[in-house]
Amino acid sequence: MYEIGIITVSDKGSRGERVDESGPVIKEMVKSLGEVTSYIVVPDDLDLLKEAMISMSDKEKLDLVFTSGGTGFSSRDNTPEATLAVIRKQAPGLVEAMRADSLKRTNRAMLSRAVAGIRNNTLIINLPGSVKAVRECLAVIMPALPHGLEILTGRGGECGSAE
Ligand code: MTE
Repeated sequence: MYEIGIITVSDKGSRGERVDESGPVIKEMVKSLGEVTSYIVVPDDLDLLKEAMISMSDKEKLDLVFTSGGTGFSSRDNTPEATLAVIRKQAPGLVEAMRADSLKRTNRAMLSRAVAGIRNNTLIINLPGSVKAVRECLAVIMPALPHGLEILTGRGGECGSAE
């Protein structure tokens, strides 16, 4: 079982002006992967976001970190930039899959600038902010995550083995 972190990215949420609904949905949906041991709501601030991701990877040594929100076109949408600044390797297939599936539902999916990648042994994945979009996107990538995490953390599994 893996240790998981959730960073909800929201100016209003961080000020207590909006209740975070996405974080609890992610927590529920990833139960089969492990335990959410860290959960914070941060404003759409580049440096605070970078700090949160670095802490969850370097200090808390989490296996998997989800961000929710801040991936669109607003001037305060900084999540992809913060993620790109802290990861060492990109994992584009995950966000490509989410966008491809989401495009079947809404053409607004092409407005997502989400990225995914690896820092240390931590996989960081940007999800959109709305609960509906989180549900749709997470459902697409969940089936591939156990194998990806096995390989990332060196806990067994070979890519050639049967699914
Ligand atoms: N993906 C899915 N599956 N469903 C959606 O409704 N909304 C899109 C997109 N991805 C959406 C989606 C919209 S409207 C935007 S602006 C971008 O995600 C970025 O969302 P964010 O700024 O909340 O991160």
